[in-house]
Amino acid sequence: MSRFLRASLGADFGYTPGEQPSDAEGWLKLNSNESPLPPSATVAAAVAHAAADLARYPSPVAEPLRSALAGVHGLEAEQVFVANGADQVLDCCFRAFASPGDSVVRTEPGYSLLPVLASLFSVHDDPVALEPGGSLPPDFARRPAALRVVVNPNSPTGHWIEPAALEATLRDADGIVAIDEAYCDFAPASCIPLLGAHPNWLVIRTLSKSHALAGLRVGYACGDRAVIADLNAVRDSYPVDRCAIAGAVAALEDRAHHQLIVDTVLRERARLIDRLRALGWSVEPSEANFVFASPPRGLTAAAVAARLRDARILVRHFALPALDEALRITVGDREATDRVLAVISSLNGKTLSGT
Ligand SMILES: Cc1ncc(COP(=O)(O)O)c(C=O)c1O
Repeated sequence: MSRFLRASLGADFGYTPGEQPSDAEGWLKLNSNESPLPPSATVAAAVAHAAADLARYPSPVAEPLRSALAGVHGLEAEQVFVANGADQVLDCCFRAFASPGDSVVRTEPGYSLLPVLASLFSVHDDPVALEPGGSLPPDFARRPAALRVVVNPNSPTGHWIEPAALEATLRDADGIVAIDEAYCDFAPASCIPLLGAHPNWLVIRTLSKSHALAGLRVGYACGDRAVIADLNAVRDSYPVDRCAIAGAVAALEDRAHHQLIVDTVLRERARLIDRLRALGWSVEPSEANFVFASPPRGLTAAAVAARLRDARILVRHFALPALDEALRITVGDREATDRVLAVISSLNGKTLSGT
């Protein structure tokens, strides 16, 4: 850090993403909730075709992708805001709706980018503890807030709150309610059908997970036209590049491939949870593309992460109070599940602590 960085940000300011080793190093990456399958085969051709026009700026509102997304969800194009990943959508929510000194209410545990954005925008970060089992405490809706963010399914726990239950808690919440549904395609239902009844709600989605496009960077928000117009007012000039627009449209059109990704994850998630439980692990119920699991007595989460790393498998260990006894393991394909379980079974009955 230089001496010029805003003092209010502090010396270790910044978001720490999951480790992203070089693609050439042959790691099994189960640490960033990426798709186990590559994107639709149609994406590469669409990206290459779009590359021919790179001398021209893209559509500022990411057309024709915006209309394609609206079509998928039965919305009007003006109800969709597209940006460079869901992370940038969240950033734009802070830009648009939270003035310095306002409160932003979020859940704990929750997405670790949110407190970083709170510091960046000089807003008051107000974390509210989720209840055991992952439901929202009534207080979540009552605290004063310009912006409330719920991640559903939650990360890192994988817990999911039914839309009707969310609505019962959030019905009278004021300010903007942003429901981050990054993992919703792996869950039974979305809150998008509730948007018509709640003009202050936004549902945030990404193509990084269930469309296997984490490398292309496409996320979006759905909501009331006026709120979407607010997001457009604060966005970057051209947040989504031509290749990303074209690749994302191609991925959306290949519904069968999207379904294959979802089906693969659901099948392997069930297998991973069953096998981990049989090995004595305590596994949270998950409706996401990852599981949050604690090892049996004798093993610490940090030590298991280290043994997996020795086998060139990356998982996510959050060295934070209340989270450090568990690992977040992304659901991979069949071979990935077998690899991770082989290492974990080999540790059973051993005593390992530390890293
Ligand atoms: C809850 C949540 N929201 C948003 C994102 C970011 O998605 P994107 O890749 O579209 O920026 C992630 C990424 O892992 C996430 O876990």
